[in-house]
Amino acid sequence: PMTTQVNSHGFLEIGGCDVTTLVQQFGSPLYILDEETLRLACQQYRDAFRQYYKGESQVLYASKAWNCLTVCAIAASEGLGIDVVSGGELYTALSAGVSPDKIYLHGNNKSREELALAIQSGVTIVADNWDELHALVDIVGTHVTSLRPRIMLRLTPGIECHTHEYIRTGHLDSKFGFDPNDLDEVFAFVSQQPALNCVGLHAHIGSQIFERQPHQDLAAVMVQWLRDAANYGLNVTELNVGGGLGIKYIESDDPPSIDEWVKAICEIVQTTCVAENLPLPKLLSEPGRSLVATACVTAYTIGSSKTIPEIRTYVAVDGGMSDNPRPITYQSVYRAVVANKMSAPLTETVTIAGKHCESGDILIKNAQLPKTEPGDILVVMGTGAYNYSMASNYNRLPRPAAVVVASGEANLILQRETYEDLIRQDRLPERLKKVEG
Ligand code: LLP
Repeated sequence: PMTTQVNSHGFLEIGGCDVTTLVQQFGSPLYILDEETLRLACQQYRDAFRQYYKGESQVLYASKAWNCLTVCAIAASEGLGIDVVSGGELYTALSAGVSPDKIYLHGNNKSREELALAIQSGVTIVADNWDELHALVDIVGTHVTSLRPRIMLRLTPGIECHTHEYIRTGHLDSKFGFDPNDLDEVFAFVSQQPALNCVGLHAHIGSQIFERQPHQDLAAVMVQWLRDAANYGLNVTELNVGGGLGIKYIESDDPPSIDEWVKAICEIVQTTCVAENLPLPKLLSEPGRSLVATACVTAYTIGSSKTIPEIRTYVAVDGGMSDNPRPITYQSVYRAVVANKMSAPLTETVTIAGKHCESGDILIKNAQLPKTEPGDILVVMGTGAYNYSMASNYNRLPRPAAVVVASGEANLILQRETYEDLIRQDRLPERLKKVEG
């Protein structure tokens, strides 16, 4: 988790920067990314694989959690590869200077343009379904003959895990990946395609998972698939067990540490390979949330409040479901503090509301806070994953700015949108320009 400090004024500091000063400088809402926390999580993953796995390994950052130039660049500088799921994410990772041989393109419905861009850039493509395999063969055969893409096959392992229904992906009734019952047919097809260089297998079972067993079961199943591939003469040597490790949003959340999670996976892959008499595959994983979530907070300015006697007090902030859609989408829970009142007693229980025209736009129910007033700076913790990346312009709110902080210095990494940005893509047909009747 992020190391924060409280300075002599009782104000919150992150990365050596006073949060209230950051808000004065950059405005609010403001995403504040702590570089050190992000680097530490990258190192924990990388080092755990090095420590517990005897074969080669590669950690990928699942950039859907927060895809932007800076986060990709920091992850890559720690030796991580990048998992992207669209042409846009791919373009961003390439623009950040990430080496194509460490980029993996996912997606259950990649367009031909996305596939062509991936092939031309030389990134690995995680093939999701039959239509995509056929499209790949076709594109390589007809357009870019000299290039032979590295592909992995995504399979649906049929493993259940306990997480929100919307973020489970491993069960058989999932839109992602090949049905394992088709495995023989898929291997037979791929082994007959000189256009495709099939290097590995991939699966992902879900997100915000607190148990270790599902990933152990997954790894064991995947090693069996490796053996099946070998039977078809395929030189499949990479195994990607996906991401999914949960993080502690609130006190009662109790996920394993990165170290424990990686260790559990490495051990099962190694023991299964020994039992099956198979060489160790190159082992990949692609965490998103557990790399970035705790490295970022969102700072808001508190505005109006409303007390309904005997029921509750709403305290409203200057953002909401447009910068953090997770509470309204998944009933996610968050923790908050007041940056300029860190030493004040937590005497109030309030509901933190956003500013959107929607009753469900609630960021936190029953937050324990000091007594607040307009102008106070509310800081929601753990907002690095699936916040900026899922942000919208609902109600035409401009998307917030983001800064990275390190050693007392803050740099803008995502500029705040302006009203001009909001109408940039609007086109008003000539015949509608006379607005007065
Ligand atoms: N790999 C694949 C193929 C994935 O689909 C995902 C997440 C990951 C890796 C990274 O999983 P993580 O380590 O972040 O759990 N928007 C939702 C989460 C959706 C996750 C989608 N896939 C949320 O805000 O909770």
